Amino acid sequence: MSKKDVEEIYDKYASGYQSGDFAPETFDTGRVAMGFADDITWHFLTKFLPEEKSIEILDAGAGDGYWAQKLVKLGYSNIVLADLSQGMLDQARKRFAKLRVKHNVKFVKSDIRNMVEFQSNTFDYVFSQYDAVSYCLKPREAVLELARVAKKDAHVIVCLDTKFKRVSELIEARQIHRAEELLRTNISYDFTHPQYNLTWQELAEYYENAGLTIVEVVGAPVFMHQVNKNVLKGLEENIEVRTRLLEMELKHCTNRSLVNFAGHLQMIGRKT
Ligand SMILES: C[S@@+](CC[C@H](N)C(=O)[O-])C[C@H]1O[C@@H](n2cnc3c(N)ncnc32)[C@H](O)[C@@H]1O
Repeated sequence: MSKKDVEEIYDKYASGYQSGDFAPETFDTGRVAMGFADDITWHFLTKFLPEEKSIEILDAGAGDGYWAQKLVKLGYSNIVLADLSQGMLDQARKRFAKLRVKHNVKFVKSDIRNMVEFQSNTFDYVFSQYDAVSYCLKPREAVLELARVAKKDAHVIVCLDTKFKRVSELIEARQIHRAEELLRTNISYDFTHPQYNLTWQELAEYYENAGLTIVEVVGAPVFMHQVNKNVLKGLEENIEVRTRLLEMELKHCTNRSLVNFAGHLQMIGRKT
């Protein structure tokens, strides 16, 4: 599976990405709690954002621009959306064309493993939300690149699927050979393309290798993805209960003994 294959898959799925029509069936259990993953990772994405609204932000593997749009709504306007897939960038462009807020968003086709389009020490805030670092199959190189383009003291935030929760998902999908392969190689398959699933210690090693000091290690979510999906759907309908469940997550999601079994792993580092 080459870089071209991943690019083609995302070009193909780009128009259905926002509606979720593109989602593969294999990991249904993990997807149920996606709303909690979104809320938790957004909580930490904003926690470390500098207050100054004119900062330069890089959204690497930005897809159709969902997260960058939220930042624009908060008043941040200098954001570069970088992605390997031109189809995803075209969707992002459409999304931003509809926004009434003034912004200075740029769309750049770029491979996270080698972002030749950007000079070193350019960005005040760098993030890669949901999987580009694992889809590129060279997470060590990707983290080095994210650190390279960040300015000194800038935060660098990566989010990807964890390793161990996927083992039971694969067994539930009766793909035992895939579970064995994942434990042996760190590689699993979403759609038809491979991805790296890491423990927080493995990702932390890549961060430290890139000169990034670990600030926070987050599991998103640490509990809700293990709750039966029908029960969770019912509970979520009550806003007060949903709020209490999110509070529970936010209180425990940085407990490192829980993170390797969480739905997603989010790591926040600072360039030193
Ligand atoms: C699961 S989507 C997430 C998109 C967006 N960050 C979000 O959270 O909605 C993963 C994105 O990574 C992009 N991607 C995959 N490999 C990449 C690479 N080597 N360099 C840059 N982007 C890549 C895909 O094109 C896709 O848009």
